[in-house]
Amino acid sequence: MADTTRTQIETLRQLAKIVNESLDTIEAAYSQAGVALPSLNSPTFSSADPAEVLRTEPAVARATLDIMAAAAQLSAEVCSPLTMVLNASQSFYLASCLNVASELNVVEILKEYGAGGVHVDEIAARSKTETGLLSRILRLLATHHVFREVKPDVFANNRISAVLDKGQSAADLFAKPEERFTKDTGIVALVEYCSDDLLRVSAELTTTILNAQPNVYPYNRAFDTDLPMFYFFQRPENAYKLKRFALGMQGIQTTSSLSEGVLGQSGFEWDTLPADAVVVDVGCGNGHVSLAIAQKHPKLKIVNQDLARQVGLAKQYWETEMPSHIENQRVEFQGDADHDFFQPQPVKNADIFLLRFIAHNWDDVKLAHILQKLRDAAMPTTKLVILDKIQLFAASWEPLLSNWGVGNAEYYYFDMGVHNMLGGGERTLPAFAAVLARAHWRLDKVYRPQGSHQPHIVAVPM
Ligand SMILES: C[S@@+](CC[C@H](N)C(=O)[O-])C[C@H]1O[C@@H](n2cnc3c(N)ncnc32)[C@H](O)[C@@H]1O
Repeated sequence: MADTTRTQIETLRQLAKIVNESLDTIEAAYSQAGVALPSLNSPTFSSADPAEVLRTEPAVARATLDIMAAAAQLSAEVCSPLTMVLNASQSFYLASCLNVASELNVVEILKEYGAGGVHVDEIAARSKTETGLLSRILRLLATHHVFREVKPDVFANNRISAVLDKGQSAADLFAKPEERFTKDTGIVALVEYCSDDLLRVSAELTTTILNAQPNVYPYNRAFDTDLPMFYFFQRPENAYKLKRFALGMQGIQTTSSLSEGVLGQSGFEWDTLPADAVVVDVGCGNGHVSLAIAQKHPKLKIVNQDLARQVGLAKQYWETEMPSHIENQRVEFQGDADHDFFQPQPVKNADIFLLRFIAHNWDDVKLAHILQKLRDAAMPTTKLVILDKIQLFAASWEPLLSNWGVGNAEYYYFDMGVHNMLGGGERTLPAFAAVLARAHWRLDKVYRPQGSHQPHIVAVPM
């Protein structure tokens, strides 16, 4: 055997070993917990299921990442490069077919038939679609393990497609399409936003780079607007887009729950804040992050700030979820008549300025401007708590990539998403420190809450 073949086979065996050893770890964790490892063929999904919760346990989470990285690398090592590159160049069909299935409420139709599934003729009749095309769309998805083709032309939900259950009956969804997200926790809104708006926008990336102009990003080309995306959302005709995006932000924790991401063990110590400490959620979206904080730490005072229409939605959300805090005047809502984070910050007694998924939307110049407005309003004791991903390099770390490759694909998808929307991007830790320093904040500490990919970056006034 030639030396290169031997070396290559050795690499493949190392990858296979990682897969096998990681499986041993997972098997041990599930048997020790007395919980069955769920099958992909199971037609239901619940993030509260103990079997799903166990995935966030550190040893299981690490083993899962190792398997994802090693299995994808094994495929890349053995597969024809021609196949790999052609598959990559058409991966957008996965997104567009997923969008079709979600819009046509296929998951909710299939839910009525359980693991045995139903013939595509029935799905097509219910969703008023052409049978042959729908069958091919679902087959493409089933080929990627979203849905299951139980037998030819008979489809069923599996554990992955079941994530897209909007929590209503198909009949209700077809009867009242305008209420389709009322029971969604945010994950379906997020998937539809990504597989609709972000898909269109991504098609403009090359043209935008080749014809670079200041403040023109793929979003502006795709939707033919000069406005930054968030301002475009404020237009009355874009109310649906705004609502879907804001709800999608609630569903964004794909690998852990919102409360694990914000309040999780070994995260920022919210409980050390004194009674009546003021937490300002800057660019609060639907106000779900500050709500999770207030539910666990009701002694804190909350100020939710965002653009006018968005902060109106946040108020509605709090009125339903925590009306007592509104009645007791422990929460305030400030919209763009009195708040825009590029303008002077109105709250001068903040203990915490919280920014979740704000920093990554903007380039360094714009972010430094936002941070400087917060610095100008800060007390010497004010802390900045930034919740954003920290970019990892993809340099090799034998035999796996040091960022776990596709195991952490979401980092790089979000990075492209925020660039394409607004010219932003995820930052490395040194890049965070540099932009903070430009606005006279000093990077103080990074917390990494257990079971979450969501670091808490804390800065203090310089
Ligand atoms: C990616 S979302 C994050 C929302 C929320 N913090 C979360 O974690 O889900 C960014 C938010 O910034 C808000 N925003 C954009 N420009 C703003 C501005 N100039 N002033 C205040 N808020 C703004 C948007 O309306 C949006 O709600």
